Amino acid sequence: MKAAQFSEFGGPEVLEIVDLPEPHPGPGQVRIVVHATGVNATEWKIRKGELSFGAPLPQTTGRDVAGVVDEIGDGVTDVAVGDRVFGVSDDGAGAAEYTLITHRSIIPPSLGFIDAAGLPIALETATRAIDQLGVTSGRTLLINGAAGGIGSTAVQLAVARGARVIGVASAANQHYLSVLGAEPVTYGDGLAERVRALAPGGVDVALDVAGNGVLRELVEFAGGPQNVVTLADFDGAKEHGVHFSNGFVDGHGFRALATVGELIETGRFWLPVERTFPLAGIAEAHRVSEAGRIRGRLVLVVKS
Ligand SMILES: NC(=O)c1ccc[n+]([C@@H]2O[C@H](COP(=O)([O-])OP(=O)(O)OC[C@H]3O[C@@H](n4cnc5c(N)ncnc54)[C@H](OP(=O)(O)O)[C@@H]3O)[C@@H](O)[C@H]2O)c1
Repeated sequence: MKAAQFSEFGGPEVLEIVDLPEPHPGPGQVRIVVHATGVNATEWKIRKGELSFGAPLPQTTGRDVAGVVDEIGDGVTDVAVGDRVFGVSDDGAGAAEYTLITHRSIIPPSLGFIDAAGLPIALETATRAIDQLGVTSGRTLLINGAAGGIGSTAVQLAVARGARVIGVASAANQHYLSVLGAEPVTYGDGLAERVRALAPGGVDVALDVAGNGVLRELVEFAGGPQNVVTLADFDGAKEHGVHFSNGFVDGHGFRALATVGELIETGRFWLPVERTFPLAGIAEAHRVSEAGRIRGRLVLVVKS
């Protein structure tokens, strides 16, 4: 089967399309015919060698996937051959014609493969982070980096819980954030004043998704490091005593894959796909992702 991989860490040019043996599912896994694969910030960080989950080289890439089940492993009862599913590719091998998935759910009926492929990691990560912060109805959450894939998802999940959300994003994304249900403010000098104008007494909790070195300010707005979680600022977390939320932990965030359908069908959740690329265009997709300023998601169309 065709799959993307890299044999050395480096720029997007290290990505190549190669022929690899088709995988077959073990217990609890299903194999899908991949129709679409999400590309997000974590993919290029792994490719550059900035982030590691311990996989040896050569390494495959791509974790968010959507497709059709064509083989099932022992013990699988939640889905059947022919089902449309989305989830996270085991071993990060989703930029390929076939992949194995353990964490999965049926794709909501109104979603196509391309839109579904942008969702799994964003849903898992955003759910985990706002659960760790205890975001519930009536609480005020500040999200720094609210317009990217994870930020947009966290905004809408928190609003659906009845929370008030203040979102920090670039000037170009202010209107977009208000459409998602957040009160938007811009980054940079004067951030404290802009947040205080909206929340004079501070916020209850704060989530850092952008990782652009503002944890000291977030700790101040939220009244202490215990009320802040970062997903992207590892060094800042250590410096300011903030929790760095990492990994799938017990996988509970994946429950959002099964429940997002109701939000989508009732018009309360939408994660735009900013651009699509063919599988052979994966290097360009990584370049665009790495350049940043993505609104929503980038997706590779593997089978149309
Ligand atoms: N810890 C975990 O479990 C976990 C899991 C998945 C991902 N992550 C991390 O979470 C972060 C966000 O991931 P994502 O997939 O949501 O990324 P993304 O879609 O590319 O979004 C990145 C966001 O950062 C903002 N931003 C602020 N300053 C920026 C700058 N100087 N350059 C580029 N963007 C800037 C952008 O918004 P504006 O354009 O409005 O500024 C955008 O909203 C990444 O660092 C990723 O590695 C962590």
